[in-house]
Amino acid sequence: MESFSSLKTIEWKNNSVVMIDQTKLPTDLVYVTYTDYRDVANAIKTLIIRGAPAIGVAGAFGLALASLQSKAETKDNLIADLEQAKKILFETRPTAVNLAWGLEQIMNVAKKGTTPSEIKELIIQTAKIMAEDDIKTNMAMGKHGSELFQNNDTIMTHCNAGSLATVAYGTALGVIRATKDSGKNIKVIATETRPVQQGSRLTAFELNHDGIDVSLIPDTAVGYTMANRLVNKVVVGADRILRTGHVYNKIGTYQVALMAKQHGIPFYVAAPLSTFDMKSNPQDVIIEQRKGTEVTQIGDKKTAPDGIKVINPAFDMTPPELISGIITEAGVAKPPYEKSIKKLFEAKK
Ligand code: MRU
Repeated sequence: MESFSSLKTIEWKNNSVVMIDQTKLPTDLVYVTYTDYRDVANAIKTLIIRGAPAIGVAGAFGLALASLQSKAETKDNLIADLEQAKKILFETRPTAVNLAWGLEQIMNVAKKGTTPSEIKELIIQTAKIMAEDDIKTNMAMGKHGSELFQNNDTIMTHCNAGSLATVAYGTALGVIRATKDSGKNIKVIATETRPVQQGSRLTAFELNHDGIDVSLIPDTAVGYTMANRLVNKVVVGADRILRTGHVYNKIGTYQVALMAKQHGIPFYVAAPLSTFDMKSNPQDVIIEQRKGTEVTQIGDKKTAPDGIKVINPAFDMTPPELISGIITEAGVAKPPYEKSIKKLFEAKK
């Protein structure tokens, strides 16, 4: 049987975008096919596809569809159509920087072409290369990260930073896969990750499918598992990392990091360089606020009184002093981050 990790979360096939509908997991593995960029935008908004690197590639493929949909006969008109599609794709989710990065990469390439047909070809080729590069990047990240983990480690992860959050292999779960593949015996503890349950629906599903030892805990058991030494390392993904090492990731990451600090447990972040935002400051980052029913219901079942007020942020910020290392495809950044992150970018040039 084909291993789940080798299945692609998103792919370009016959001038259309094919992706796994993640809202149907863990019960059904269903693929959806889109030929309209507005459907891709809707898929990002409704979490059919989610995870920072995956939505970066979805944005790029969305623009590829927009270019095929355009009837423009001049370069200028095609660029205008692409700008409009870019706006619609960009406005879907505000926190993960990879989406803006993916859209920008495609727009830069589009501007280099001369005729509409040449531009369309360039865009499709570039988006396909971005998808292939995502897998290579994750494998390089895994290799660097695996050196931080030892035989018999039990590693906690939060949310899903796996195959399903990328094109394939994963960032945090890529590090876990690479550690296992290096011959080390490891176990994983996955948090449930309320309210959308990416931990139980996606991380537990993909690790279980790949035969990696995983135990699921409710988010409320993070303190218990750490205090009772049931876990000795943490690795999570990221949606945006600032030049100062401030990490934005799934809501609850901050409390996992704080708890790890309290118990002397190393807390690592794994993310590609495309997740870094070297320009913004913490006050510039928009934290997505999602609908209250994610908190007041589980599925269709009401779990809170009617009319209750809800605060439902999708992400939080973990400050650099709680982070033991940031694993990238270019190496591992260690504190002080302002210096080490800059070095990684310089080495990449
Ligand atoms: O709301 P989501 O499911 O898109 O949030 C995803 C996360 O927070 C992941 O941890 C992050 O994108 C890293 S994915 C490699």
